[in-house]
Amino acid sequence: MNDGLQPRSASTSASELIRWMGVQDANHAGFVHGGVVMKTCDEAAAIAAIRHCGRRVVTAGVDRMTFTEPVYVGELLNCSATVNAAWRTSMEVGVRVEAENPRTGERRHTSTAYVTMVGLDDDGKPTPIPGVVAETEAESRREREAELRRANRLAERDQILGERES
Ligand SMILES: CC(C)(COP(=O)(O)OP(=O)(O)OC[C@H]1O[C@@H](n2cnc3c(N)ncnc32)[C@H](O)[C@@H]1OP(=O)(O)O)[C@@H](O)C(=O)NCCC(=O)NCCS
Repeated sequence: MNDGLQPRSASTSASELIRWMGVQDANHAGFVHGGVVMKTCDEAAAIAAIRHCGRRVVTAGVDRMTFTEPVYVGELLNCSATVNAAWRTSMEVGVRVEAENPRTGERRHTSTAYVTMVGLDDDGKPTPIPGVVAETEAESRREREAELRRANRLAERDQILGERES
């Protein structure tokens, strides 16, 4: 029976969103605003998540968002997203951001984000999603690291709730 929950390979979700950064994307310092990078990452993550589960999704949280180098006006913002791991209704999507000079093709890794997306049914409620099949060593490593981030996130939540109650 095909209930839409057969595990899918990680590569099924691989998505790339490319935006050309213009003056409207700049902050007061003249380079690209971090919020523009975050929004583009969120959109790339949503595309990957929808490709994985074939459903509407919402962003439940962002575990980490690094900005290691600025992105400049005139560069292409490349956001590559893949589902790293899936649980009952939620999945972690890893997003790698590279800035590209469109004339030379030179690329720099500028940000990484880990976004949790939740699959929704037609009533907007969280619903079970397919698992992820890692087919390469890199995909297996990303799945292990996603499990670690989830375990840490849940442990932190439990610790905070425990301290509030004590
Ligand atoms: C995300 C949301 C659907 C979760 O709803 P909920 O009633 O808490 O549902 P559940 O408790 O069943 O949790 C569903 C899943 O979300 C995960 N989740 C909930 N809150 C989370 C958070 N802050 N961070 C990461 N994962 C979270 C749960 O771990 C669970 O995952 P699992 O089923 O794989 O174990 C709900 O909080 C929501 O709609 N939030 C608003 C989303 C939004 O507006 N996003 C911005 C625009 S897209």
